[in-house]
Amino acid sequence: MDRQQEQPLIGESRAFLDILEHVSRVSQLNRPVLVIGERGTGKELIAARIHYLSPRWDRPFVKLNCAALAESLLETELFGHEAGSFTGATRRRLGRFELANEGSLFLDELASTSDRVQEKVLRVIEYGELERVGGNETIRSDVRIIGATNEDLPRLAEEGRFRADLLDRLAFDVITLPPLRERRDDIMPLAQHFAVKMAGELGLEVFEGFSEEARDQLMEYAWPGNVRELKNVVERAVYSALGEDQLVNDILFDPFESPWRPGFEANTSDTPAPTAPLEAYDFKEHIQQTEIDLLKAALEQNRFNQKKTAVYLGMTYHQLRGYLRKYELTEGE
Ligand SMILES: Nc1ncnc2c1ncn2[C@@H]1O[C@H](COP(=O)(O)OP(=O)(O)OP(=O)(O)O)[C@@H](O)[C@H]1O
Ligand SMILES: [Mg+2]
Repeated sequence: MDRQQEQPLIGESRAFLDILEHVSRVSQLNRPVLVIGERGTGKELIAARIHYLSPRWDRPFVKLNCAALAESLLETELFGHEAGSFTGATRRRLGRFELANEGSLFLDELASTSDRVQEKVLRVIEYGELERVGGNETIRSDVRIIGATNEDLPRLAEEGRFRADLLDRLAFDVITLPPLRERRDDIMPLAQHFAVKMAGELGLEVFEGFSEEARDQLMEYAWPGNVRELKNVVERAVYSALGEDQLVNDILFDPFESPWRPGFEANTSDTPAPTAPLEAYDFKEHIQQTEIDLLKAALEQNRFNQKKTAVYLGMTYHQLRGYLRKYELTEGE
């Protein structure tokens, strides 16, 4: 059986609970559904949840990543092929649509499909019919499509890069997953969940917990890679703390971080000497603007980790917080 069925969905933020409610509603309908969201937000888990809550739960849940295959391969993967349809096709092969019959087909990274494939998918949705590549026989198909993408499909359709008629059909209902930084109440429950699992994997009896500083760091980070990144960071932290017998304190967000990283420019103090503008100017405003620019650049350089940014700027964390509040650079908190 598919392991995804057992994977729990963790989250207690309002936004996440709303998503779960939407998922239970949409799962009952025998219509296509789209799951949209940034990378690592949990699109695949949500797609699986839709299937297993649906009346099709005991039928196949078949997945295909459309971005992983070239057009012709994608076509035979989806629709199958007859023996002899191309060199090397010695036997008839069933496509994912046929394998998913009476169940659900998860089409991941749907935006990257070619016009031809999109047209064939549209036909399955509209008429429940398909032909294998190299075949004439029309095959009936009863499949519920769950599509996923991190692209803005309506915009792609406007630009002629995605079929508008297919989009209309697929978008019977759309679930848009919020990024992790917009549902901060989910961060610690997820971190706790991944940490406990990792501790178990490492043969530890208990997970001691995170230190307050570690919690602050996890809460403040912007999580551009969303839940997947959180999982990696937490697992690495638990693993690194192995044998220390105390709260997990060290959080390493970027495992590539090293002074010897290729192309990495060390933060030496070769900043050019400031020059005064030629025109008359407001000294105070000028200084403030310089401070704001430096703070923004430093935050970006340190991937919005405030603890690291403070170290980088040679100030204490509380001094940095003071500056951020002063210039209202604390958005998203
Ligand atoms: N709410 C959640 N509870 C528990 N684990 C989660 C949750 N959301 C995501 N995960 C985990 O985070 C990781 C990424 O999730 P998933 O693969 O579903 O994301 P995705 O949106 O499909 O990402 P991508 O766009 O990169 O394909 C997986 O390991 C998944 O198990
Ligand atoms: Mg995915």
